[in-house]
Order: sequence, then C-alpha cells, then structure tokens
Amino acid sequence: DWKMQDVMEEEIKVMKGVVGPEDHVICALSGGVDSAVAATLVHKAVGDKLHCIFVDNGLLRYKERERVLDTFERDLHLPVTCVDAAEQFLSKLKGVVDPEAKRKIIGREFICIFDDFAQDLERKLGRKPVFLVQGTLYPDVIESCPPPGSGKSHSHTIKSHHNVGGLPKDMKLKLIEPLKLLFKDEVREMGSILNVPAAFLKRHPFPGPGLAVRVLGDVTEGNALEILRQVDEIFIQSIKEAGLYDSIWQAFAVFLPIRSVGVQGDQRTHSHVVALRAVTSQDGMTADWYYFEHKFLDDVARKICNSVRGVNRVVQDITAKPPSTIEWE
Ligand code: XMP
Repeated sequence: DWKMQDVMEEEIKVMKGVVGPEDHVICALSGGVDSAVAATLVHKAVGDKLHCIFVDNGLLRYKERERVLDTFERDLHLPVTCVDAAEQFLSKLKGVVDPEAKRKIIGREFICIFDDFAQDLERKLGRKPVFLVQGTLYPDVIESCPPPGSGKSHSHTIKSHHNVGGLPKDMKLKLIEPLKLLFKDEVREMGSILNVPAAFLKRHPFPGPGLAVRVLGDVTEGNALEILRQVDEIFIQSIKEAGLYDSIWQAFAVFLPIRSVGVQGDQRTHSHVVALRAVTSQDGMTADWYYFEHKFLDDVARKICNSVRGVNRVVQDITAKPPSTIEWE
C-alpha cells in the first residue's frame, strides 16, 4: 500500500532527525506484534544504535523463546540481547497466590532487568542510552488520556495491565513511540511492508505477565507451568490444523490448582484439571466464547489426556466477558 509506505518513510525521516548521531536507543521486545514492528521501524532509522532486550521470565509458552528470537534475528535482523531470568522471576513468585501481587512482582522484576540492561550498555558504550522505544498504539493514547467529560479515568482499571511501562525515574529516557498514531490493523499492514512474517503478525494477544495469570494460584507449585505449556500447545496446534486460528481472538489453556479423580488404563488417578478458553472479540473489552464443533473438542480432550502426564480432566470455559474477563486472573 503506497499510503502506508509514505507514512513509514515519513516516520523514519522524523526519527533520523530526532535521534542525534551519538545517541543510543533501547527497546524491550515483548514477543508481540507492536514492539516488534516499532523496533524494526526504529532500526531502519538508527541502525546499530538500537539495542533490544528480550526477557525470558520463565512464564513463556511452549518453545516461545526460540520461536520469537528466530523471528527477530532471522526475519527482522534485529540486534537482540536475550536475558534468561526464569530463576529470578520464579523465585520471587514462589508461594504467591494473589493475582494482583503476582502482576506487581512481575512488573518490578521487568524494571530491574531493564535497568541492569541500560547500565550494562552505558558501561559498554561509555554513554547513557538516550531514547526508549515503546510500541504504544493510538487506542492506548486515547485510553491513558481520556477526553474530559468522557467519564473515563485510570481509577477504573480492573486489572493492573502492564507492559514494560513504568521505568526508574533516574533513567531519564526520552520516549520514541513510532506507532502512536496507528490502529492495530495499520500496525499489521506496516509490519508486512517491513517483512514481519504473516504468522507473527496474526499471533493472538498474550498478556505481559505471561503464564503466571494462567496458572491459578502459586505458579511454582509442582510442574504446573510445564503441564500448562504442553496442554496449551496441543490446543493451539489443533486450532491451527482445523483452520480456526484466524477466526479466534484468543485461545489458551488454564491450569487449575485442583485435582480430580479419573481412570486411565486400569489405574485410578488423582490428577490435574485444565480449562480451555477461546474467545472472539473486537478489542478485548468485551468477548464471546467461541463455539467449537463437538468432534473438535472431543479430539482435543482425548489428545490432552493421552499425551500430557498428570492431566485427567479437561473442561471448557463458556462465559462471555462480561461477566468474566478473558484471562482467569
Ligand atoms: P482481560 O483478562 O482483562 O484481558 O479480559 C483483556 C485483554 O488484555 C490481555 N491482558 C494483558 N495484556 N498485560 C498485557 O499486556 C497484562 O497484564 C494483561 N492482562 C490481560 C488479555 O490477554 C486480553 O487480550
């Protein structure tokens, strides 16, 4: 599309003007579309003065780190430092069951790691990074500055959603938000011009706190995370094989902190219950549960119980938002 090409070139020109010849830029890649497109665009403008970080917080999905880094390095040629911080996050989350407490801990750890990254960079370069890239979109801008009289305010936040946001004040980074005037579909369009693979652009949204909000209760309990990864992967692959992935806003599995009695082989089992959730939505604010064929659900449930050790029961979430939220925590 020639119009989007123009918008892009204009944006690159502006950034070249704003970022001085000696200035360095940092960017946290979440694995999502917005930060990947923002970073790719900035990379076009400032080249190797862009330094990206991707944090493996131990709360990623099956093979997610490998898959995402592959896209960054092979397809987008982005310079990325991957920090393996699984131990750091999981040790802080041990014993924590309150959903908001989990989110706060994760947010704090992200900031610590980001701060260390900026300091390492300063030592290496001999100067502080000056700019920070954020994949803020137009709807985020409207939401955080509600028009007067709209009745909207920060105080009605239901969950403390966060990406890598609130940064230490002494870092004094200036923000670069190259997607600030775009809607999601425009970001996808720009991404495709920038050679972001189509499969990456169509990925379902994934929350910043990752699987921590999909393992109810203590995420470090037993092998909950590992079980959840396997179940989620079977569910998602089945959805893709059935050609349903693009008709669904979000699909995922949830690990429930309860056990139920089952019979597998000739054995009585007392194992875990997992829930499957798939929803359709326009913007995540409201959602309907997705209606699968019985045969599809039957196949998925059998496959899960047959191949994931420790699971003997699969349930489906059939609630809309409202009254539920999309995520369980
Ligand atoms: P809820 O559960 O509030 O989710 O209905 C609405 C949408 O937001 C995603 N979500 C998050 N995204 N950080 C994020 O970046 C978060 O903390 C977070 N919590 C929920 C959720 O996956 C859904 O798409």
